[in-house]
Amino acid sequence: MRSVIDTVELSVEELEELISTAQDIIAHPSKYAHVCDGKKLATLFFEPSTRTRMSFEAAMYELGGNVLSMPDAASSSVAKGESVSDTAKVMSCYADIIAIRHPKEGAALVAAKKASIPVINAGDGGHCHPTQTTADLLTIYREKGGFDNLTVGFVGDLKYGRTVHSLINALSRYSGIKLVLISPKELALPRYVIDNTIKPAGMEYVETTSLEDSIADLDIIYMTRIQKERFDDPVVYERLAGSYVLDAEKMKLAGPGCIVLHPLPRVDEIAVDVDGDPRACYFKQVLNGKYMRMALILKLLGEAAREPRKEGLPQGVDPGAEAAAEGTAPRRCRNPKCICAAERSIPHLAARSADGSLRCLYCEERL
Ligand code: CP
Repeated sequence: MRSVIDTVELSVEELEELISTAQDIIAHPSKYAHVCDGKKLATLFFEPSTRTRMSFEAAMYELGGNVLSMPDAASSSVAKGESVSDTAKVMSCYADIIAIRHPKEGAALVAAKKASIPVINAGDGGHCHPTQTTADLLTIYREKGGFDNLTVGFVGDLKYGRTVHSLINALSRYSGIKLVLISPKELALPRYVIDNTIKPAGMEYVETTSLEDSIADLDIIYMTRIQKERFDDPVVYERLAGSYVLDAEKMKLAGPGCIVLHPLPRVDEIAVDVDGDPRACYFKQVLNGKYMRMALILKLLGEAAREPRKEGLPQGVDPGAEAAAEGTAPRRCRNPKCICAAERSIPHLAARSADGSLRCLYCEERL
């Protein structure tokens, strides 16, 4: 059963197909108003969300389908200790497709392995957020006309900013992309993104702490929030909060064709005096996200329909077969933010990186 855990699982052709479907939805919404009649989307959100959950739900309603919503862990049996694995199996009995957000890295992959219906990662801790990337891509496509030969500045919390990791994964398939990675040293991009994605793709990149020094060279300024909820030490967060603020004065240094993106929510990293600038595209991203989620739901349900669902209860995953296919981890993942740390019954799986090192299959950290 096809699920989407990160953007690398969607080929360039599939991303273009999603963009094309989204544009057709924008042009002819009535054509799509009943294509999901009788279908149900389960939104399982164990972490706060405004855009992702609401846009998934709006997307399903606009396709004619219905929604089963679990808006927080407190209102579900997760509060009684139920695992992600069991929750995914249970929801497979009620719904046709799942969108899941969870604070632990790799939680969506666990759900995908246990569910018998398609699972979409709506954000797993500081790891990935592929549907935000689809929103980013449609916005870039509509504003810049394509993806090749762009200089993209990622600004802020590149360590925990899952939207940054997923967008870099997507952009790694295009040519002539230059990355300017602008962050405090403590919030630099994780090594695994550089080692597993940027270097194998031969992408040009530079790491810096200064936005002002590079802003004039950027085609895209991708601002991010410092992710308060991911810090172990609040004192460190307080020290780093407010590291970068993009305001109208700084926008005078940016080129006329440069666009400003932000996955939102923002705290103070983009001043409201930038909102009226025609180069500010972060609210366009919000709307584009709904259309791309409509396109993705349609694609995955279409593929699932061609792969008939087994009768009866969802099939459990055989840890032995899984380990044989992907490689049993020689030792436990030590990342406390990984789903492995919370869900002791899942098999510990490893994959080999381009540089030959072993990484946890769930969170991608080195073992
Ligand atoms: N961009 C994004 O994921 O927003 P929410 O946290 O509000 O869903």
